[in-house]
Amino acid sequence: MEKAEAKRRIVLVPVPAQGHITPMMQLGKALNINDFSITVVEGQFNKVSSPSQHFPDFQFVTIPECLPESELERLGPLEFLLKLNKTSETSFTDCIRQLLLQQGNNIACIIYDEFMYFCGAAAKEFKIPSFVFSTSSATNQVSRYVLSKLNAEKFLIDMEDPIVQDKMVENLHPLRYKDLPTSGVGPLDILFELCREIVNKRTASGVIINTVSCLERSSLTRLQKELGIPVYPLGPLHLKSSAISGLLEEDRSCIEWLNKQKPRSVIYISLGSIVQMETKEVLEMAWGLSSSNQPFLWVIRPGSIKGSKWIESLPEEFSKMVSEKGYIVKWAPQIEVLGHPAVGGFWSHCGWNSTLESIVEGVPMICMPFDGEQKLNALCLESVWGIGFQLQGKVERGGVERALKRLIVEEEGADMRERALVLKEKVKASVRIGGSSYKALEDIVNYLETE
Ligand code: UDX
Repeated sequence: MEKAEAKRRIVLVPVPAQGHITPMMQLGKALNINDFSITVVEGQFNKVSSPSQHFPDFQFVTIPECLPESELERLGPLEFLLKLNKTSETSFTDCIRQLLLQQGNNIACIIYDEFMYFCGAAAKEFKIPSFVFSTSSATNQVSRYVLSKLNAEKFLIDMEDPIVQDKMVENLHPLRYKDLPTSGVGPLDILFELCREIVNKRTASGVIINTVSCLERSSLTRLQKELGIPVYPLGPLHLKSSAISGLLEEDRSCIEWLNKQKPRSVIYISLGSIVQMETKEVLEMAWGLSSSNQPFLWVIRPGSIKGSKWIESLPEEFSKMVSEKGYIVKWAPQIEVLGHPAVGGFWSHCGWNSTLESIVEGVPMICMPFDGEQKLNALCLESVWGIGFQLQGKVERGGVERALKRLIVEEEGADMRERALVLKEKVKASVRIGGSSYKALEDIVNYLETE
């Protein structure tokens, strides 16, 4: 009992979105195992689900609403984040003041998602060490430096020139200017402003990234140079702790369905927690899947088809097409699915969590990036690690059928699978004693223990 009270406390501040909450909670568990108490500071929406069940030892604190969820739809994600940062500083500072009183000043540090940079002010005011936590790749961080140095207006004009689009970004092979994460995320001037804020690490003691050295060595070296503070690549965090923080309930019936399929025959399709598609694209996917004759497990998240609650607006032929060879769920236990012997490939939007999870299971990928840094991840999967390929152009049935054959049936897919298995072993070695990710976590813990 006495020992528990003496534990130093770490305050975590996630972004209220699935792809950010999950790795932050995994980090929390990893630090908790290392004898720190954890307080999670949340806003009013997209909170960690069933906290007392999944995180019984953690303290959860909700700060007063600074920006309602309805503003997210009205403003779009980028402007929402900018405004959230502008409006949250005071209530967060008050919250830390209260926590310091409650905890007898026993806060070892604040770890905040890089998008929640308003936390830097409270850390500075109360002289508490802070760490910035990034849930995306190191290459994405570097591309933000590139973007923050570009003149937004000039960039817009330049980007209409195909020669500029195809130009390589200096020291960032194989990135071309058109691969920079600028499309589909919202107005460019807002993106540039957000990038400038994010690359300013304020008074942070270091940057924690859910990545692995062996995947991104050159980006990590460049990032370290740009930042001038320590960078801790300690991923993949889901290998360190299996924190459950899903905002949606997992449908485990798909595991029973997978148990009945042949080894490496199934294509698993999931486009993460945010992507939305048009009905006609979904139908093209279904036609392609159907004519490929490969079994498939497809996550169709409620609300992911524009204008539909789920799949009720799709024509009857859809259910017929998918029921022959496929299985549909609203949300799957993704990590378990990717590790299932029946899964032969992953058709993904290439969110960073999905990318890491697929690498850890040695599953090759069909890459269909939508926006933000997903394009960068897809590029790395295809051109750097050689364990996936991009679905080019519009989604249409012929292309889908061809891609599925390439990945599951043909030799090219088998080669990708072999490379994926080699990469899997390297990544897994990084979290074992003495591995690079193991050491990165050890370094943070040592830093916090001596602070
Ligand atoms: C978002 C961005 O899109 C992504 O690019 C960024 O890196 C993080 O924030 P999201 O779109 O949700 O995330 O994708 P991703 O990063 O892949 O995260 C999805 C998470 O949901 C993964 O951890 C995955 O395991 C989980 N998931 C997905 C499930 O548990 N079940 C599912 O059915 C689908």
